[in-house]
Amino acid sequence: MNIAVFVSGNGSNLQALIDAEKKGGLSSGKIKLVVCDKSDAFALVRAKKHNIPVFVLTGDRHASREEYDKVIIEELDQKNIGLIVLAGFMRILSGHFVNKYANRILNIHPALLPAFKGANGIKDAYDAGVDVTGVTVHFVIEELDSGPIIFQEEVKIGKNESLEKLEEKIHKVEHKLYPKAVRMFVDGEMRS
Ligand code: GAR
Repeated sequence: MNIAVFVSGNGSNLQALIDAEKKGGLSSGKIKLVVCDKSDAFALVRAKKHNIPVFVLTGDRHASREEYDKVIIEELDQKNIGLIVLAGFMRILSGHFVNKYANRILNIHPALLPAFKGANGIKDAYDAGVDVTGVTVHFVIEELDSGPIIFQEEVKIGKNESLEKLEEKIHKVEHKLYPKAVRMFVDGEMRS
């Protein structure tokens, strides 16, 4: 199954997926494309290092979200992509896009959804002073950070723990959970 990974930043989850694929951890899943909305994202360096084609499309030139998404859809169609994996992609997808790939888009979020939606899930949980936060992998629907939940794993916040330490713990869980979810999807072991 051909996979496209969508990124905007560091790409540590992309790296975890690349590493998993190399070890056979994505079953027959193959990362055939990395889509990115930021031309300076470190995730692009990671993709190029592993000879994965990248498609960079910054939002500036497109009249609407749907116009932007249509350009991406053409690229996905050309590569016969069967699964879209959002890995820190910080752009909201149009209803047109989400409906076209219904039940074939996964997202990872660094909190226990529906708690702490949005772009700063780790910090928002930390600032709220909760004892437990975590990681969610879910199917994507039009509403942001919503959709059927596939996995959740709790991460405890220790007393006097720094935000940096919490970030490290959350990312470690993400890098374990996301390849597992992708492998299960590829093997037809999950339904939304
Ligand atoms: C990850 O922590 C991911 O859960 C989060 O962005 C980070 C990307 O890191 N996504 C969201 O907050 C989505 N709402 P990465 O670029 O190192 O993979």
